[in-house]
Amino acid sequence: MIEDFGGTEEMHGSGHWFLDRDPVPTQEGCAAFVAMTEETAPGSADGTKVPSTYYWLAAGDGALDDELVGFLNFRHTLNDFLLDQGGHIGYGVRPAARRRGHASEALRLALLDAPGLGIDRVLVTCDLDNDASRRTIELNGGVLDDIRGDRRRYWISPTRLKRPC
Ligand SMILES: CC(C)(COP(=O)(O)OP(=O)(O)OC[C@H]1O[C@@H](n2cnc3c(N)ncnc32)[C@H](O)[C@@H]1OP(=O)(O)O)[C@@H](O)C(=O)NCCC(=O)NCCS
Repeated sequence: MIEDFGGTEEMHGSGHWFLDRDPVPTQEGCAAFVAMTEETAPGSADGTKVPSTYYWLAAGDGALDDELVGFLNFRHTLNDFLLDQGGHIGYGVRPAARRRGHASEALRLALLDAPGLGIDRVLVTCDLDNDASRRTIELNGGVLDDIRGDRRRYWISPTRLKRPC
């Protein structure tokens, strides 16, 4: 998956920037990546890092042989930077698996976790020129609040979304 991304620039939601070095597609590199994305990353005392959950997106039903297609990170609280720019949730889908609905489905599933985290309004942002992310947010009920710099800021109220049958 890392090779498919062709570098880390688009690996949103992976948390790779918290590793000591760029993630490498070896067993050792993978182990370091997994260790960093523990089930719930605790955040830092000074608030520059907030508690969050990392997900690796699988194309199938979660079986061990599923193809991994991307990353999603759900920040449990907002600090000043996240409220202004970053939002609660970031995600990235590997280039070979794009335009198959993975990001929209991943965001839909992540939003189901919001009530359990005590979040009734989820902030999701995207760059002005990122049509793919904009559509992903709008498909999930995002309501545009404002534009700050080159970021669109959307709020989603998960309780208003349709539940799966
Ligand atoms: C944004 C991203 C996660 C979308 O992933 P994806 O799995 O391809 O998205 P989906 O297949 O769920 O598509 C969602 C919607 O976006 C549209 N879309 C996808 N790629 C698009 C593109 N390049 N241009 C325009 N629309 C696009 C889809 O058609 C769909 O809308 P529709 O149902 O109205 O047709 C992916 O492009 C990516 O990883 N980009 C780099 C990282 C990034 O920008 N992350 C977001 C940070 S805010």
